[in-house]
Amino acid sequence: MAGEEVSNKQVILKHYVVGFPKESDMEVKISNITLKVPQDCNNCFLLKNLHLSCDPYMRGRMTKHDRPTYVDCFKIGSPIMGFGVSKVLDSRHPNFKAGDLVWGMTGWEEYSLITSSQSFYKIEHTDVPLSYYTGILGMPGMTAYAGFYEVGSPKKGDRVFVSAASGAVGQLVGQFAKLTGCYVVGSAGSKDKVDLLKSKFGFDEAFNYKEEEDLDAALGRYFPEGIDIYFENVGGKMLDAVLMNMRLHGQIPVCGLISQYNLEQPEGAHNLLNLITKRIRMEGFLVTDYYHLYPKYLEMILPLIKEGKISYVEDVVEGLENAPSALIGLYYGRNVGKQLVVVARD
Ligand SMILES: NC(=O)c1ccc[n+]([C@@H]2O[C@H](COP(=O)([O-])OP(=O)(O)OC[C@H]3O[C@@H](n4cnc5c(N)ncnc54)[C@H](OP(=O)(O)O)[C@@H]3O)[C@@H](O)[C@H]2O)c1
Repeated sequence: MAGEEVSNKQVILKHYVVGFPKESDMEVKISNITLKVPQDCNNCFLLKNLHLSCDPYMRGRMTKHDRPTYVDCFKIGSPIMGFGVSKVLDSRHPNFKAGDLVWGMTGWEEYSLITSSQSFYKIEHTDVPLSYYTGILGMPGMTAYAGFYEVGSPKKGDRVFVSAASGAVGQLVGQFAKLTGCYVVGSAGSKDKVDLLKSKFGFDEAFNYKEEEDLDAALGRYFPEGIDIYFENVGGKMLDAVLMNMRLHGQIPVCGLISQYNLEQPEGAHNLLNLITKRIRMEGFLVTDYYHLYPKYLEMILPLIKEGKISYVEDVVEGLENAPSALIGLYYGRNVGKQLVVVARD
Protein backbone atom coordinates (compact mmCIF):
# COMPACT_ATOMS: atom_id res chain seq x y z
CA MET A 1 0.00 0.00 0.00
CA ALA A 2 2.84 2.46 0.89
CA GLY A 3 3.87 4.50 -2.16
CA GLU A 4 0.71 3.60 -4.04
CA GLU A 5 -1.39 6.37 -5.62
CA VAL A 6 -5.01 6.19 -4.47
CA SER A 7 -8.12 8.33 -4.74
CA ASN A 8 -8.77 10.70 -1.83
CA LYS A 9 -12.35 11.80 -1.13
CA GLN A 10 -12.42 15.32 0.36
CA VAL A 11 -14.99 17.78 1.75
CA ILE A 12 -14.20 21.20 0.29
CA LEU A 13 -15.51 24.63 1.34
CA LYS A 14 -16.82 26.24 -1.87
CA HIS A 15 -17.16 29.84 -0.63
CA TYR A 16 -17.33 31.84 2.59
CA VAL A 17 -20.63 31.66 4.40
CA VAL A 18 -23.04 34.35 5.58
CA GLY A 19 -25.85 33.37 7.96
CA PHE A 20 -26.73 29.72 8.58
CA PRO A 21 -24.42 27.33 6.65
CA LYS A 22 -25.95 25.03 4.02
CA GLU A 23 -24.84 21.71 2.61
CA SER A 24 -24.36 23.44 -0.74
CA ASP A 25 -21.60 25.62 0.81
CA MET A 26 -19.50 22.44 0.78
CA GLU A 27 -18.87 19.79 -1.85
CA VAL A 28 -17.39 16.31 -1.89
CA LYS A 29 -14.57 15.96 -4.42
CA ILE A 30 -12.20 13.18 -5.39
CA SER A 31 -8.49 13.92 -5.77
CA ASN A 32 -5.43 11.62 -5.77
CA ILE A 33 -2.72 11.13 -3.19
CA THR A 34 0.46 9.05 -3.01
CA LEU A 35 0.58 7.11 0.23
CA LYS A 36 4.17 8.11 1.02
CA VAL A 37 5.61 11.22 2.66
CA PRO A 38 7.68 13.09 0.02
CA GLN A 39 11.47 12.81 0.60
CA ASP A 40 11.90 16.57 1.04
CA CYS A 41 9.04 16.85 3.59
CA ASN A 42 10.93 16.59 6.86
CA ASN A 43 8.82 16.28 10.03
CA CYS A 44 5.77 15.42 7.89
CA PHE A 45 3.50 12.42 8.34
CA LEU A 46 0.73 10.85 6.32
CA LEU A 47 -2.58 9.98 7.99
CA LYS A 48 -5.50 7.74 7.21
CA ASN A 49 -8.44 9.52 8.84
CA LEU A 50 -10.78 7.31 10.86
CA HIS A 51 -13.14 9.57 12.84
CA LEU A 52 -13.83 13.27 12.25
CA SER A 53 -15.29 15.61 14.83
CA CYS A 54 -18.07 18.14 14.09
CA ASP A 55 -17.60 21.15 16.37
CA PRO A 56 -19.59 24.40 16.61
CA TYR A 57 -16.47 26.64 16.39
CA MET A 58 -15.98 25.43 12.79
CA ARG A 59 -18.70 27.86 11.72
CA GLY A 60 -16.35 30.74 12.57
CA ARG A 61 -13.76 29.32 10.17
CA MET A 62 -16.32 29.45 7.34
CA THR A 63 -16.52 33.24 7.54
CA LYS A 64 -13.99 35.59 5.97
CA HIS A 65 -12.72 37.74 8.85
CA ASP A 66 -11.48 41.23 8.34
CA ARG A 67 -9.63 41.30 11.66
CA PRO A 68 -7.35 38.74 13.31
CA THR A 69 -9.07 36.03 15.34
CA TYR A 70 -7.97 33.01 17.39
CA VAL A 71 -8.21 30.58 14.49
CA ASP A 72 -7.71 31.08 10.72
CA CYS A 73 -10.61 30.82 8.31
CA PHE A 74 -10.76 27.78 6.01
CA LYS A 75 -9.16 28.04 2.58
CA ILE A 76 -11.70 28.07 -0.25
CA GLY A 77 -11.23 25.04 -2.49
CA SER A 78 -9.27 23.14 0.19
CA PRO A 79 -10.52 20.44 2.55
CA ILE A 80 -12.21 21.61 5.70
CA MET A 81 -9.99 21.11 8.75
CA GLY A 82 -11.11 19.74 12.10
CA PHE A 83 -10.21 17.47 14.97
CA GLY A 84 -10.01 13.81 14.11
CA VAL A 85 -8.65 10.42 15.06
CA SER A 86 -6.24 8.99 12.49
CA LYS A 87 -3.74 6.24 11.83
CA VAL A 88 -0.18 7.09 10.73
CA LEU A 89 0.59 5.38 7.40
CA ASP A 90 4.06 6.83 6.81
CA SER A 91 6.21 9.28 8.73
CA ARG A 92 9.32 11.44 8.50
CA HIS A 93 8.56 12.87 11.94
CA PRO A 94 10.61 11.67 14.95
CA ASN A 95 7.56 11.42 17.26
CA PHE A 96 5.31 9.34 15.01
CA LYS A 97 5.78 6.05 13.18
CA ALA A 98 3.63 4.01 10.81
CA GLY A 99 0.87 2.25 12.74
CA ASP A 100 0.58 4.90 15.49
CA LEU A 101 -2.87 6.23 16.32
CA VAL A 102 -3.12 9.99 16.85
CA TRP A 103 -5.72 12.69 17.42
CA GLY A 104 -5.41 16.29 16.30
CA MET A 105 -6.21 18.80 13.58
CA THR A 106 -6.56 16.93 10.30
CA GLY A 107 -8.37 17.36 6.97
CA TRP A 108 -11.93 16.33 6.10
CA GLU A 109 -10.63 13.76 3.64
CA GLU A 110 -9.65 10.10 3.59
CA TYR A 111 -5.88 10.74 3.73
CA SER A 112 -4.01 13.83 4.95
CA LEU A 113 -0.38 14.83 4.60
CA ILE A 114 0.41 16.70 7.82
CA THR A 115 3.23 19.21 7.73
CA SER A 116 2.93 20.59 11.28
CA SER A 117 2.73 18.27 14.28
CA GLN A 118 1.78 21.07 16.69
CA SER A 119 -1.72 19.93 17.46
CA PHE A 120 -1.26 16.14 17.47
CA TYR A 121 -1.36 13.74 20.40
CA LYS A 122 -0.29 10.12 20.16
CA ILE A 123 -3.06 7.86 21.47
CA GLU A 124 -1.59 5.69 24.23
CA HIS A 125 -4.81 4.22 25.65
CA THR A 126 -6.68 2.02 23.18
CA ASP A 127 -8.82 0.02 25.62
CA VAL A 128 -11.58 2.64 25.20
CA PRO A 129 -13.52 3.44 21.99
CA LEU A 130 -11.19 5.28 19.58
CA SER A 131 -14.01 7.67 18.66
CA TYR A 132 -13.84 9.00 22.25
CA TYR A 133 -10.75 10.97 21.18
CA THR A 134 -13.09 13.26 19.20
CA GLY A 135 -15.12 13.86 22.37
CA ILE A 136 -14.67 12.87 25.98
CA LEU A 137 -10.95 12.11 25.52
CA GLY A 138 -10.31 14.95 23.09
CA MET A 139 -10.98 18.66 22.72
CA PRO A 140 -14.59 18.73 24.06
CA GLY A 141 -13.59 16.68 27.12
CA MET A 142 -10.72 19.05 27.90
CA THR A 143 -13.11 21.99 27.40
CA ALA A 144 -15.59 20.63 29.95
CA TYR A 145 -12.78 19.87 32.40
CA ALA A 146 -10.99 23.22 32.09
CA GLY A 147 -14.17 25.27 31.98
CA PHE A 148 -15.86 23.62 34.92
CA TYR A 149 -12.98 22.92 37.29
CA GLU A 150 -10.45 25.65 36.39
CA VAL A 151 -12.73 28.53 35.45
CA GLY A 152 -15.91 27.60 37.37
CA SER A 153 -14.09 26.73 40.65
CA PRO A 154 -16.97 24.53 41.88
CA LYS A 155 -17.64 23.58 45.50
CA LYS A 156 -19.78 20.80 46.92
CA GLY A 157 -23.37 21.99 47.22
CA ASP A 158 -23.11 24.61 44.46
CA ARG A 159 -26.20 25.05 42.29
CA VAL A 160 -25.07 24.60 38.68
CA PHE A 161 -26.89 25.35 35.44
CA VAL A 162 -25.65 24.06 32.04
CA SER A 163 -27.10 25.08 28.65
CA ALA A 164 -26.77 22.90 25.49
CA ALA A 165 -26.49 20.30 28.24
CA SER A 166 -26.81 17.12 26.18
CA GLY A 167 -24.03 18.02 23.75
CA ALA A 168 -20.37 17.04 23.53
CA VAL A 169 -19.29 19.42 26.32
CA GLY A 170 -22.51 19.87 28.32
CA GLN A 171 -23.13 16.19 29.10
CA LEU A 172 -19.69 16.07 30.75
CA VAL A 173 -20.06 19.31 32.67
CA GLY A 174 -23.28 17.99 34.20
CA GLN A 175 -21.63 14.73 35.25
CA PHE A 176 -18.57 16.55 36.64
CA ALA A 177 -20.94 18.71 38.66
CA LYS A 178 -22.65 15.64 40.11
CA LEU A 179 -19.27 14.06 40.95
CA THR A 180 -18.41 17.28 42.81
CA GLY A 181 -21.60 17.05 44.86
CA CYS A 182 -23.46 19.90 43.17
CA TYR A 183 -27.15 20.28 42.32
CA VAL A 184 -27.29 20.45 38.52
CA VAL A 185 -29.94 21.45 36.03
CA GLY A 186 -29.55 21.34 32.25
CA SER A 187 -31.43 22.84 29.33
CA ALA A 188 -31.73 21.25 25.90
CA GLY A 189 -33.87 21.59 22.80
CA SER A 190 -36.01 18.43 22.71
CA LYS A 191 -37.91 16.04 24.96
CA ASP A 192 -35.53 13.17 24.11
CA LYS A 193 -32.53 15.26 25.12
CA VAL A 194 -34.22 16.31 28.37
CA ASP A 195 -34.97 12.65 29.17
CA LEU A 196 -31.35 11.73 28.45
CA LEU A 197 -30.07 14.41 30.81
CA LYS A 198 -32.05 12.96 33.70
CA SER A 199 -31.93 9.24 32.94
CA LYS A 200 -28.41 8.81 31.58
CA PHE A 201 -26.29 11.71 32.84
CA GLY A 202 -27.83 12.09 36.31
CA PHE A 203 -28.88 15.76 36.10
CA ASP A 204 -31.19 16.56 39.02
CA GLU A 205 -33.55 18.44 36.70
CA ALA A 206 -33.72 19.36 33.02
CA PHE A 207 -36.02 21.38 30.79
CA ASN A 208 -36.69 22.02 27.11
CA TYR A 209 -35.88 25.71 26.62
CA LYS A 210 -37.90 25.78 23.38
CA GLU A 211 -41.08 25.07 25.32
CA GLU A 212 -40.56 27.76 27.96
CA GLU A 213 -42.22 31.06 27.17
CA ASP A 214 -40.47 32.79 30.05
CA LEU A 215 -36.89 31.56 30.63
CA ASP A 216 -36.49 33.79 33.67
CA ALA A 217 -39.51 32.14 35.31
CA ALA A 218 -38.31 28.64 34.33
CA LEU A 219 -34.93 29.24 35.98
CA GLY A 220 -36.68 30.67 39.03
CA ARG A 221 -38.58 27.38 39.32
CA TYR A 222 -35.47 25.21 39.24
CA PHE A 223 -33.26 27.60 41.23
CA PRO A 224 -35.45 29.25 43.90
CA GLU A 225 -32.26 30.27 45.73
CA GLY A 226 -30.36 31.25 42.58
CA ILE A 227 -27.50 29.84 40.48
CA ASP A 228 -23.91 29.64 41.75
CA ILE A 229 -22.33 28.51 38.45
CA TYR A 230 -23.73 28.95 34.95
CA PHE A 231 -21.76 26.99 32.33
CA GLU A 232 -22.52 29.11 29.29
CA ASN A 233 -22.74 27.34 25.93
CA VAL A 234 -25.40 29.32 24.10
CA GLY A 235 -25.66 33.06 24.94
CA GLY A 236 -28.57 35.20 23.71
CA LYS A 237 -31.88 35.10 25.58
CA MET A 238 -30.68 32.33 27.90
CA LEU A 239 -27.78 34.42 29.16
CA ASP A 240 -30.10 37.33 29.87
CA ALA A 241 -32.47 35.09 31.85
CA VAL A 242 -29.58 33.52 33.76
CA LEU A 243 -28.16 36.91 34.76
CA MET A 244 -31.48 37.63 36.51
CA ASN A 245 -31.17 34.37 38.48
CA MET A 246 -27.50 34.37 39.53
CA ARG A 247 -26.52 34.38 43.19
CA LEU A 248 -24.14 36.80 44.85
CA HIS A 249 -20.51 36.05 43.80
CA GLY A 250 -21.67 33.56 41.16
CA GLN A 251 -19.39 32.31 38.40
CA ILE A 252 -20.11 32.21 34.66
CA PRO A 253 -17.46 30.33 32.66
CA VAL A 254 -18.23 31.42 29.09
CA CYS A 255 -17.51 28.43 26.91
CA GLY A 256 -19.57 29.23 23.82
CA LEU A 257 -22.40 31.33 22.40
CA ILE A 258 -23.80 29.04 19.73
CA SER A 259 -27.08 30.96 19.42
CA GLN A 260 -25.06 33.83 17.95
CA TYR A 261 -22.73 32.07 15.51
CA ASN A 262 -24.98 32.33 12.45
CA LEU A 263 -26.46 35.77 13.10
CA GLU A 264 -25.34 38.60 10.89
CA GLN A 265 -26.08 40.99 13.77
CA PRO A 266 -25.36 39.46 17.21
CA GLU A 267 -27.99 40.08 19.91
CA GLY A 268 -27.05 42.32 22.81
CA ALA A 269 -27.13 41.32 26.49
CA HIS A 270 -29.63 43.39 28.44
CA ASN A 271 -29.15 42.36 32.05
CA LEU A 272 -25.42 43.01 32.56
CA LEU A 273 -26.09 45.26 35.55
CA ASN A 274 -26.42 42.03 37.56
CA LEU A 275 -22.66 41.49 37.09
CA ILE A 276 -22.09 44.51 39.28
CA THR A 277 -24.86 44.25 41.82
CA LYS A 278 -24.26 40.53 42.41
CA ARG A 279 -20.44 40.72 41.99
CA ILE A 280 -20.56 37.94 39.38
CA ARG A 281 -17.35 36.74 37.70
CA MET A 282 -18.02 36.06 34.03
CA GLU A 283 -14.91 34.70 32.29
CA GLY A 284 -14.45 33.55 28.71
CA PHE A 285 -11.93 30.79 28.11
CA LEU A 286 -10.38 28.83 25.25
CA VAL A 287 -9.49 25.18 25.67
CA THR A 288 -6.19 25.83 23.88
CA ASP A 289 -4.91 27.61 27.00
CA TYR A 290 -5.39 24.45 29.08
CA TYR A 291 -3.87 21.60 27.05
CA HIS A 292 -0.96 21.40 29.51
CA LEU A 293 -3.55 19.80 31.85
CA TYR A 294 -4.36 17.01 29.37
CA PRO A 295 -2.27 14.34 31.16
CA LYS A 296 -3.94 15.27 34.48
CA TYR A 297 -7.35 15.10 32.81
CA LEU A 298 -6.64 11.64 31.37
CA GLU A 299 -5.59 10.45 34.83
CA MET A 300 -8.98 11.55 36.15
CA ILE A 301 -11.25 10.54 33.28
CA LEU A 302 -9.91 7.15 32.13
CA PRO A 303 -10.68 5.34 35.41
CA LEU A 304 -14.12 6.99 35.52
CA ILE A 305 -14.89 5.66 32.02
CA LYS A 306 -13.55 2.19 32.76
CA GLU A 307 -15.43 1.92 36.07
CA GLY A 308 -18.66 3.05 34.35
CA LYS A 309 -18.88 6.16 36.56
CA ILE A 310 -19.23 8.45 33.59
CA SER A 311 -21.31 8.03 30.41
CA TYR A 312 -20.69 9.47 27.00
CA VAL A 313 -23.29 9.59 24.24
CA GLU A 314 -22.17 9.94 20.64
CA ASP A 315 -24.15 10.70 17.49
CA VAL A 316 -22.35 8.83 14.73
CA VAL A 317 -22.83 9.27 10.98
CA GLU A 318 -21.05 7.11 8.41
CA GLY A 319 -19.13 8.45 5.44
CA LEU A 320 -17.57 11.75 4.36
CA GLU A 321 -20.58 12.38 2.05
CA ASN A 322 -22.69 12.83 5.18
CA ALA A 323 -20.21 15.10 7.00
CA PRO A 324 -21.58 18.46 5.72
CA SER A 325 -25.11 17.71 6.90
CA ALA A 326 -23.81 16.42 10.26
CA LEU A 327 -21.85 19.65 10.80
CA ILE A 328 -24.79 21.86 9.87
CA GLY A 329 -27.05 19.81 12.14
CA LEU A 330 -25.24 21.24 15.18
CA TYR A 331 -26.76 24.68 14.53
CA TYR A 332 -30.28 23.21 14.40
CA GLY A 333 -29.82 20.90 17.41
CA ARG A 334 -30.14 17.76 15.28
CA ASN A 335 -27.28 16.00 17.10
CA VAL A 336 -27.98 14.01 20.24
CA GLY A 337 -24.64 13.88 22.03
CA LYS A 338 -21.19 14.28 20.49
CA GLN A 339 -21.47 14.54 16.69
CA LEU A 340 -18.84 12.63 14.76
CA VAL A 341 -18.31 11.14 11.32
CA VAL A 342 -16.79 7.71 10.69
CA VAL A 343 -14.58 7.81 7.60
CA ALA A 344 -12.93 4.41 8.05
CA ARG A 345 -12.94 1.75 10.75
CA ASP A 346 -9.16 1.11 10.74
N1 LIG B 1 -14.25 27.79 24.63
C1 LIG B 1 -13.78 26.69 24.04
O1 LIG B 1 -12.58 26.44 23.99
C2 LIG B 1 -14.79 25.74 23.45
C3 LIG B 1 -14.41 24.45 23.06
C4 LIG B 1 -15.40 23.57 22.59
C5 LIG B 1 -16.73 24.01 22.48
N2 LIG B 1 -17.03 25.28 22.81
C6 LIG B 1 -18.42 25.77 22.75
O2 LIG B 1 -19.19 24.97 23.62
C7 LIG B 1 -20.54 24.94 23.17
C8 LIG B 1 -21.01 23.49 23.09
O3 LIG B 1 -20.21 22.80 22.13
P1 LIG B 1 -20.44 21.26 21.86
O4 LIG B 1 -19.30 20.78 21.06
O5 LIG B 1 -20.77 20.60 23.15
O6 LIG B 1 -21.72 21.29 20.90
P2 LIG B 1 -23.02 20.40 21.06
O7 LIG B 1 -23.72 20.88 22.31
O8 LIG B 1 -22.66 18.98 20.95
O9 LIG B 1 -23.89 20.79 19.78
C9 LIG B 1 -24.43 22.05 19.66
C10 LIG B 1 -25.81 22.15 20.36
O10 LIG B 1 -26.08 23.53 20.59
C11 LIG B 1 -27.47 23.70 20.70
N3 LIG B 1 -27.90 24.86 19.92
C12 LIG B 1 -27.76 25.07 18.59
N4 LIG B 1 -28.28 26.26 18.26
C13 LIG B 1 -28.77 26.80 19.39
C14 LIG B 1 -29.44 28.03 19.69
N5 LIG B 1 -29.73 28.94 18.75
N6 LIG B 1 -29.80 28.26 20.99
C15 LIG B 1 -29.54 27.36 21.95
N7 LIG B 1 -28.90 26.18 21.72
C16 LIG B 1 -28.53 25.93 20.47
C17 LIG B 1 -28.13 22.43 20.10
O11 LIG B 1 -28.68 21.68 21.19
P3 LIG B 1 -30.19 21.93 21.69
O12 LIG B 1 -31.02 20.88 21.05
O13 LIG B 1 -30.06 21.78 23.16
O14 LIG B 1 -30.59 23.30 21.23
C18 LIG B 1 -26.96 21.67 19.50
O15 LIG B 1 -27.15 20.28 19.55
C19 LIG B 1 -20.56 25.67 21.83
O16 LIG B 1 -20.98 26.99 22.03
C20 LIG B 1 -19.10 25.64 21.40
O17 LIG B 1 -18.77 26.70 20.52
C21 LIG B 1 -16.09 26.15 23.30
